[in-house]
This record gives sequence, structure tokens and C-alpha cells, in this order.
Amino acid sequence: MKPIYVGLCGVGTVGGGTATVLKRNAEEIARRAGRPITVKMAASRDLARAREVCGSDVEIIDDALAIARHPDIDIVVELIGGTTVAKDLVLTAIEHGKHVVTANKKLIAEYGNEIFARAQEKGVIVAFEAAVAGGIPVIKALREGLTANRIEWVAGIINGTSNFILTEMRDKGAAFADVLAEAQRLGYAEADPTFDIEGHDAAHKLTIMSAIAFGIPVQFDKAYLEGISKLQAADIKYAQELGYRIKLLGVTRRRDTGIELRVAPTLIPAKRLIANVDGVMNAVLVKGDAVGATMYYGPGAGAEPTASSVIADLVDITRLHTADPEHRVPHLAFQPSQLADLPI
Ligand code: NDP
Ligand code: HSE
Repeated sequence: MKPIYVGLCGVGTVGGGTATVLKRNAEEIARRAGRPITVKMAASRDLARAREVCGSDVEIIDDALAIARHPDIDIVVELIGGTTVAKDLVLTAIEHGKHVVTANKKLIAEYGNEIFARAQEKGVIVAFEAAVAGGIPVIKALREGLTANRIEWVAGIINGTSNFILTEMRDKGAAFADVLAEAQRLGYAEADPTFDIEGHDAAHKLTIMSAIAFGIPVQFDKAYLEGISKLQAADIKYAQELGYRIKLLGVTRRRDTGIELRVAPTLIPAKRLIANVDGVMNAVLVKGDAVGATMYYGPGAGAEPTASSVIADLVDITRLHTADPEHRVPHLAFQPSQLADLPI
């Protein structure tokens, strides 16, 4: 069967992870998607590095917009970050009738209303599972798993870099600047790490979850945000002595006066489950009226955890929106071919 052709724009931490996992798990991914998912073109500013990561079968160019316009590309994957080139790229891809997958929470939180409106007019999908909580499929949980519920609130540790810094300061007495440098080395931090430590990144993710949970437009400008940059070792030590942990928590909830959107360092009793979410791990709690409180836990950043979410979107789009009706893989149906995955 003809593969679905992907144009990978940005071959950095997440782009590199996506190319690697798509190659490594090509057979399983093709089975689940109903056809192979193949990176046909990639855009990078470092052509040699991109060639090394993607392999010689992939056409590497330096102009991402050319990929968005290219007739052979079915899905454009935006992993450049920021809101200049990335926004142009996504809107150009939509104009050219291409589906889009992005991990860019800043883009979705700040321009999502415009982007989704254009996508709807053009009948294409813009998917963004990787934009919130890295490898945790929390967008899917909010949209699908909890769809029967009236959501009351969503709360979470949704910035891996900040949580990594707070954990290393608490457990190893490490200096803030040293742990931030380590988070950058590990590929957790944003290109501008101010977004991580001042709460912007968590607020972007919270804004997106709030829009889905409450069925409202994205409204990042309404979020209250405060980061961890003013915290000192003594704050963390005193919190611990009093039986608490400090976590950068994002909370969005229904209030009589409207929807609250708030990110701030928060004291949480040490015995609570969420207080024990450490390092780069994220956790999102969602309270629905029918199900009660639920919690989703996993790696919040990093190359392959984030690639896992990017590829989940690629598979969803492929099986639901690009196949001929007779080749469409039903969303929830059991596929006999998956038996091959079992160790029998
Ligand atoms: P990186 O900086 O590692 O990768 C971005 C890549 O895009 C770089 O290689 C950069 O090249 C390249 N690039 C920049 N401009 C262009 C351009 N005009 N054309 C082609 N390539 C370009 O970032 P990440 O992979 O970490 O992040 C990518 C996106 O994923 C961001 O939106 C981020 O917020 C999001 N994200 C990241 C996660 C993570 O754990 N890192 C997790 C979840 C989401 P150069 O190196 O030359 O600048
Ligand atoms: N910089 C982000 C974080 C990447 O640390 O959580 C994942 O979105």
C-alpha cells in the first residue's frame, strides 16, 4: 500500500526522536496505521546532521515552507518551535490542504483559534498531543476517554524542566543554574529556558487543556503565571521540614465568575501522590463529574517520549483521515494483526 508521506520540519531533539522511532518501529506503526508512515522530506538548518539522523532515503532541504507546499507531502510535522517560521509553516501547510502535527504549545496556546479556524475551513486536521505533557497521552484522555464527563478541574505538573530543577535542588542540594544547564543538555528545556522557569511553558499547556476540558477558545493572555526562578534552596528546605513539597502547579477550573487559569509554585503535602512526581516526570489530574478524579503520569519531555506522542497523532491521522474507506483502520476495533505483538 502507498505510504503516507511526512515532511519533517525541524530535526532537533523532538524531530530527531521522531525520525528515529518512526524508523525503529516502522513495521508496528504501519500495521496500526493501516499503511507505512514514511519521512519523505525533512527541513533543517543543519543539513549534514539531518542527513545523519534521517538517513539517505530522505530528501533534506533548508526551506521548511517548500515542504508545506510540496505536492507529495501528506502530513507536515512542525518541530521547529517558536511562532514565526512555525506559524507560517503551519498556515501554509493548511492552505495547501495538508494535515499538520505539532509539538508547539506556544503556537497552539497563542494562535490556536486562528489555526483551527483555517484548518476547519480547509477540512484538514491539526493535531498536537505532544504539545502537552510530552509522552503522556493527556489530550486523548481529555477528548476521548473523559468525553462523557462535565470536567470540573484540571491540575498538573506540566513542565519537566522546572520539576527536574526542584527535585535536584531538594534531593541533591544542587544549584538552580547547574540543574537548568543539565536540563538543557538533556534536551528538556525550551530554546529560551525562561519559558520553562518563569511559568510560560506550563501556562501554554494549561491553556490548551483548559480549552479542551471546558470547550472554550484558547486564551493564554488570561492566564496568571508565576515561575520557579525566585525560589531559593531555603524555601525548598523549609517546605520539606514542614511536611510539604514545592511543585510548579498549573490549575484550571470552573468558577461562578468564569474559568480560572493559574500557574504558580505550590506547597503540596508530601504524602499526596502528585507531590511525589519527581524529575522530568509530569502528572495531570482531571476531575470529571462522572468518573471522579483521574491521574495521568509519565515523562513530560525528552526526544523519544515526545516522539511517542507525535507519532500517535501521525497514526491517528493516517488511519482516520487519509485512508480510502475500505482501508480505514477502525479507531477502537481490535486488529487481528496486532496478535503478532504478543509473545506467544
Ligand atoms: P530543538 O531546538 O532541539 O529543535 C528545533 C530544530 O528546528 C533545531 O534543530 C533548529 O535548528 C531547527 N530549526 C529552526 N529554525 C528552522 C527553520 N527555519 N527551518 C528548519 N529547521 C529549523 O527543539 P525541540 O526539538 O526541543 O523542540 C521542538 C518543538 O517541540 C518546540 O515547539 C518545543 O516546545 C516542543 N517540545 C519539546 C519537547 C522537548 O522535550 N524538547 C517536549 C514537547 C514539546 P538549529 O539547531 O539550527 O537552530
Ligand atoms: N520544556 C518543556 C518541559 C518540554 O520542560 O516540560 C516539554 O514540553
